Amino acid sequence: MSELTSEIVTTPLPSVETPLLAIALAEGALPASLQSVDASSGGALSRPFTSGDFKGRRDETTLLYPATGKAQRVLLIGMGKATDLSRGSVRRAAGVAAKRARALGATKFTFVVAQEAAQGIAAADLAQAASEGAAQGAWTFLELKARPEDAKPDVDSVAIAVPAGDAREAERGRRLGDAIAAGHRLARYLQAQPGNVCTPAYLADHAARLAKAHGFTLTVLDRAALQREGMGALLAVGQGSEEEPRFIVLEYRGAGTAAPVALVGKGVTFDSGGISIKPAQNMEEMKYDMSGAAAVLGTFEVLGRLKPKLNVVGLIPATENLPSGTALKPGDVIKSHAGKTIEIINTDAEGRLILCDALSYVRRFNPAAVLDAATLTGAVVIALGHAATGIMGTDEALLAEVRDAGERSGERCWPLPLWDDYRELLKSDVADVKNSAGRGAGTITGGWFLREFAGGYPWVHLDIAGTAYTESEAPYQAKGPTGVGVRLFSEFILKRAGA
Ligand code: BES
Ligand code: MN
Ligand code: ZN
Repeated sequence: MSELTSEIVTTPLPSVETPLLAIALAEGALPASLQSVDASSGGALSRPFTSGDFKGRRDETTLLYPATGKAQRVLLIGMGKATDLSRGSVRRAAGVAAKRARALGATKFTFVVAQEAAQGIAAADLAQAASEGAAQGAWTFLELKARPEDAKPDVDSVAIAVPAGDAREAERGRRLGDAIAAGHRLARYLQAQPGNVCTPAYLADHAARLAKAHGFTLTVLDRAALQREGMGALLAVGQGSEEEPRFIVLEYRGAGTAAPVALVGKGVTFDSGGISIKPAQNMEEMKYDMSGAAAVLGTFEVLGRLKPKLNVVGLIPATENLPSGTALKPGDVIKSHAGKTIEIINTDAEGRLILCDALSYVRRFNPAAVLDAATLTGAVVIALGHAATGIMGTDEALLAEVRDAGERSGERCWPLPLWDDYRELLKSDVADVKNSAGRGAGTITGGWFLREFAGGYPWVHLDIAGTAYTESEAPYQAKGPTGVGVRLFSEFILKRAGA
């Protein structure tokens, strides 16, 4: 896996020697702070402004080859209206810069936000966002191609240029951004792996790697151990497959005996729907049904690197969901870890089944808060599209905390209500609850099902089915896995740890 590393530099722009100087700026005229580099470049920067070719709109770029000066190329990147700028704009612009650097074959580049545009953004936040965005934009997944047509070298470093007075704060943010980027990269890597590589055992292997590298406590339950533990719902989903399910528990201790934050990630390594089989169209995308698990593992990479003062437990129920002669069937009634019985209406509503056992198991840690991330429902794409993660929960303060972490991390969340009216829809004639209701409010009934098992601790559920991967190429990131969850979880944890 290629790594992009970042560093802070304070060199005045006209003196920066680089194959690519990427300059992010707001809409409008060439800002005064860039006049010196315009002069050293023989007026190359001001020309696209005077001609009216470049306006600085969001994602707008112009590539310049100045005849003079130290930069081989200069890339102007628009961030949109000056009044709308945030760390998200910086993250995005850095992503655009890195993606373009790769296309140009530049293995390193220098990134700077024009001082005028950086006004309202703290130096540490700016450097963190720049480092995260650059890694995001540079990312690719080519290891399964025998002859990669994109034979471009990896972009391996970005220099973030800041005013000398900001260097210390910027370095603090850069360090966070670099660690978060590493976790984000791991999550995307795991997501990108196809189902024949990324199996439940593969996820457990990666958890073991993390445990070894960073000193986490690891527990992995196999089928026999799941039986002893009574995890009937996870076992039921796994019973149709030759690949054994796993229940993976990682423990990071950064705060002695304090109650931990628990992160639960759905780890369905391939979701065919089971006996209630999905249509063939786009079914290959269901390799991404372990994106919640990837977010948890990615976050543990961040924990290992930053060692915040907080305890965190990661729980991953991992399984395939396949049809076979031994598979779970509609009409079956199963017994969950919590003891509640569940009538199976649709074997494609498997995520909530494996999560409900995890949400019951987690009680033994007396968690201060439990967050779960899951590609749970197609319905969340109908409700929110791909712009936001749907969130639901039992604790208003925790919901607000998650939303705030989402805003800071650029991983937006939007709440859906868990009103009692919706609980009716999950009533079963033969069991305590059924696993699927009608077509209406599909995301909420999924959330309500989980709520039945999430008792005794503050809990928030993140439905990431719309945000875990994209089918379209963006200027700031390649299409495919997005690593969603890693940044949000990391921001959440760092804030709680007071870092
Ligand atoms: N993994 C899917 C949800 C999903 C759909 C993720 C599209 C990403 C993109 C989940 O297991 C599922 O199949 N949910 C069903 C629930 C229904 C049967 C109640 C769905 O959304 O149709
Ligand atoms: Mn499913
Ligand atoms: Zn699924």
